[in-house]
Amino acid sequence: MMGQPHQIHNQYVFDVESSAEMARLLDQDHMTTRAMGGLFPEFYDPDPKPNPESIDKQRVLDVACGPGGWVQQVAFTYPSIEVFGIDISHTMIEYAQAQAEVQHLKNAYFEEMDVTQPLKFPDDSFDFVNARFMVGFLSREQWPQVLQEMVRVTKPGGMVRLTDSDVAATGVTNSRALERLTTLAAQACYRAGKGFGAGRESSNIGITPMLSILLQRAGCLGVIEQPHVLNYSSGTTAYHANYSNFRTGWLLMKPFLLKMGVTTNEEIDALYEQFQIEMLSEDFRGLWYFLSAWGQKPAKE
Ligand SMILES: C[S@@+](CC[C@H](N)C(=O)[O-])C[C@H]1O[C@@H](n2cnc3c(N)ncnc32)[C@H](O)[C@@H]1O
Repeated sequence: MMGQPHQIHNQYVFDVESSAEMARLLDQDHMTTRAMGGLFPEFYDPDPKPNPESIDKQRVLDVACGPGGWVQQVAFTYPSIEVFGIDISHTMIEYAQAQAEVQHLKNAYFEEMDVTQPLKFPDDSFDFVNARFMVGFLSREQWPQVLQEMVRVTKPGGMVRLTDSDVAATGVTNSRALERLTTLAAQACYRAGKGFGAGRESSNIGITPMLSILLQRAGCLGVIEQPHVLNYSSGTTAYHANYSNFRTGWLLMKPFLLKMGVTTNEEIDALYEQFQIEMLSEDFRGLWYFLSAWGQKPAKE
């Protein structure tokens, strides 16, 4: 296990050791995996017929895995494959390890790692490398190098998948307060050097149009994009989870928005009150859009 690199390199918009953020991510993980239609792309078989001659197991890596929900679900669903999760947060990795133990998941492994540094895995280690929601901590300049590392540790013929969102976790709603908060988050991200928004006044983070080109530039072939939508309007199953997710999320986001100078204490406090009132309306409508893109590392000649 590494020392504590997160104290040096942490650039996440939230405190990576916050247990409130960890709880928020756990809820978000369940909602997003469901909205993505499952753990893997529809046409990807993570557990092809085992070759009795081969001692090689299928291996999967989740980059910036948070509290490890996706890794644990993959390990549980596919007991014959080995799943690894890496994250810079000591709190998240410790929790993920404890959960894997409680669930008796012998094929789930977690390790603290700063993914902006060279990954501590040999070349060609994994059949599938996954990363979801990295825009909150990577700078624009870091994406190519992180992608290069993800491709390096992927086996020839293996897959790399990215999933991200342009609109914090809110998307499009009929709440004026949420619309303003989402715009503030995009502007703060731009000022912090994150995302690929059109400028300081941009109302979105601009990462999704970049996912496929980032994969291609890192050498991936046959890149495919798939949009997802999570409807959390009043009366839907995702509504209550998202309401509590936002109550935590926007509170945790406040120091970042203030630090980036996009708002004032008074405005953010008023917006925080207002979005709760607007979300509690029976007419509340909210759709969160996000995108996956995946491609293949070229097979060796
Ligand atoms: C939005 S969360 C995404 C978690 C998970 N991928 C998911 O979809 O639920 C971002 C994660 O990135 C982690 N993180 C931040 N900076 C990191 C870094 N430099 N290296 C590795 N992980 C990092 C945070 O601790 C957090 O768990």
